[in-house]
Order: sequence, then structure tokens, then C-alpha cells
Amino acid sequence: MSVLLPGGAGFIGSHTAVELLNAGKEVIIVDNFSNSKPEVLEAIKKITGKEFKFYNIDYIDREKLEEVFEENEIEAVLNFAGYKAVGESVKEPIKYYTNNISGALVLLDTMKKYNVKKFIFSSSATVYGEPEKMPITEECKTGGTTNPYGTTKLFIEQILKDIYASDNTWDICILRYFNPIGAHESGLLGEDPQGIPNNLMPYIVRVAAGKLKELSVFGNDYKTHDGTGVRDYIHVVDLAKGHVLALNKLEKEGQGLYIYNLGTGTGYSVLDIVKAFEKATGVKVPYKIAPRRPGDIAMCYADPTKAYKELGWKATKTLEDMCRDSWNAR
Ligand code: WQD
Repeated sequence: MSVLLPGGAGFIGSHTAVELLNAGKEVIIVDNFSNSKPEVLEAIKKITGKEFKFYNIDYIDREKLEEVFEENEIEAVLNFAGYKAVGESVKEPIKYYTNNISGALVLLDTMKKYNVKKFIFSSSATVYGEPEKMPITEECKTGGTTNPYGTTKLFIEQILKDIYASDNTWDICILRYFNPIGAHESGLLGEDPQGIPNNLMPYIVRVAAGKLKELSVFGNDYKTHDGTGVRDYIHVVDLAKGHVLALNKLEKEGQGLYIYNLGTGTGYSVLDIVKAFEKATGVKVPYKIAPRRPGDIAMCYADPTKAYKELGWKATKTLEDMCRDSWNAR
């Protein structure tokens, strides 16, 4: 039996593939390299010393996807095949709704046809919109997303709830990621956004490497300890391990729809990150204070207690690990 990873060559998918292979799972990756590179597959093999199957297809292509289900005995699917650039989603909503939602529907319908009913979905803290309290628990209300990317996550969560309501033999786990950063400690895998990065850590890495002049800190008048935005940054390897534990739960207990926050529970400001990065790497990060970025909230950090109680999962890597590994993987 194998686990299928659409989008398995991407940032979170590739790190999860490593942890699944290390845990002895048989892995099949489906990816069309729309936001990743073939070298990632070699890196996964090098790190794990293990082989896996790979299909260069677009997961929205039903015929090709069905071939994958025909040729393999698939036990569970972990879906990483989503576009994730917030700004681009505002400019190209149809592209985002098509790839993320139609793609997920094709995938889920194909799973149903082949009677594969274990599904782990990459959701995001963005589904909480303007959070009603801090730290955020899974019970906090969702909705009020501010961009099409976030709305695709919210809609797919609803689709999954409706699927489970219609047929409770599905085993579904929704993982709400906070802010994944860092990279595999080998330096062989990492985040490699195309063009100018939107997210904080990839931007800092480019500035530190001298490829961009300075970081713009978006706002220093938020109600936070130093005025800059606070987020719950989580090491991508900790996040990847959360998927292995979620899969174990679905394999052992099954039959349920579960939702977990995957965050550390600690919030760091933009300036905390800049300082930690400089300390961990010894490299200066020039920055200037810039206006707030539209759509940003002051604070967002998780209460990760539920994932600890029910999955036995806890983030173990430090902010220093995150900064050092992000830098080493550049
Ligand atoms: C973090 C903090 C910025 C860049 C987004 C998505 C979320 C998830 C992760 C995607 C904020 C500040 C940033 C910069 C800055 N999805 N910042 N200068 O906005 O929390 O979350 O990415 O894959 O769904 O919404 O992450 O890294 O963009 O920003 O000052 O150049 O850094 O204002 O406070 P965000 P981020």
C-alpha cells in the first residue's frame, strides 16, 4: 500500500515525502513542476536513500490521475498541490479557484471511484480571517478570508466536511498550517520561490545574500510588543512530521473528520525574526520601515494543544534552527 502526494515536489510536500519515507511508507509523488524543480526528487532520494514512484502529471487531469490509481494500490492521499501566492491569487482568481478547488474535486472524485478514503489536506491559518481570539484554537470561527488563495482553503475545508457528512467511511484530516519556514538540515531541500518573494523568510534570505537591497518591514504601529506583525513560524520539518502522525491516526483509528492547528504556539514579530536571523547566521539584514501591507493582521499564533493531545505532535525546532536551515538551503 502506498500514499499518494500530489504536489509532493513542492516546499511542504517534499519535506513530508522525506518524513514519510523515513517512517517506512511507500510514497508516490505526482507533480507537474509548476512551482518546483525535478532536482527536488533527487534530493529526496539522497536524503532518505529510498526510492519512490513519480508521475509528471497535472493532478487536475482526470484521465492521467486515474492511471495512477489503476497502477498502484493507494491507501491514502496527502494533497499538497495548491497554488499559494496570496498576491497572485488576487490578480488571477480563476487560476486559483481552478487549480486549488477543481483540482481537489477531481482528486476526491477519483479517490471515491477507487474507494480510497483517507485524505489529509493542507489548510492554513488564513481560514480564521481576523481571528476572534489569541492564541487561536480549532474551535475559533472561520471565514472572512481576505484573498482568493485563503478562500480556496476555506471552500475545500467545507467541501471535505460535506463529503464526510454524506459518507462517514471517509477518514479526513485537515491540517491548518501557521507560517512554515526553515528547510531540511542537509541544505538539500528548501523553499525556492520564483521571482521576488512575498513571504518574510525567503525575502530575508535574498536580502542577506545580497540579491535584494533591503527588507521592507510592513508597519511598526501594530498593537504588538515592538509594533511589527506577529506570526507563529514553524519549522517545515516539524510540520512534515505532523503529517506522518496524522496519517498514523487515520490508519489506526480512522472514520472521522479531524482538524488540527500546526504551529508552535509562540508568536514572533518581524523584528524578532530579523534579529534571530542575524544571530543564527552572522549576516546582517538591512531593513527599513514601510507602510502596512493591505490585508495583514497584527497577530496570529496557534494554540497547538489539540494536535499534542490527539496526535502526540509538538514542534521541537527552535527559531534559531529555522533561521539557520533557511539560510543553509539558499
Ligand atoms: C509574515 C509577516 C508581514 C514580507 C501568508 C499567507 C498564509 C500562508 C503563509 C502561504 C507579516 C511581514 C512580510 C516582507 C514584512 N500561506 N512581512 N516584509 O502574511 O503571515 O501569511 O503566508 O503559503 O496563508 O497569508 O506571511 O511571510 O507574508 O508575512 O514585513 O517583505 O512578515 O507583514 O507581518 P503571512 P508572510
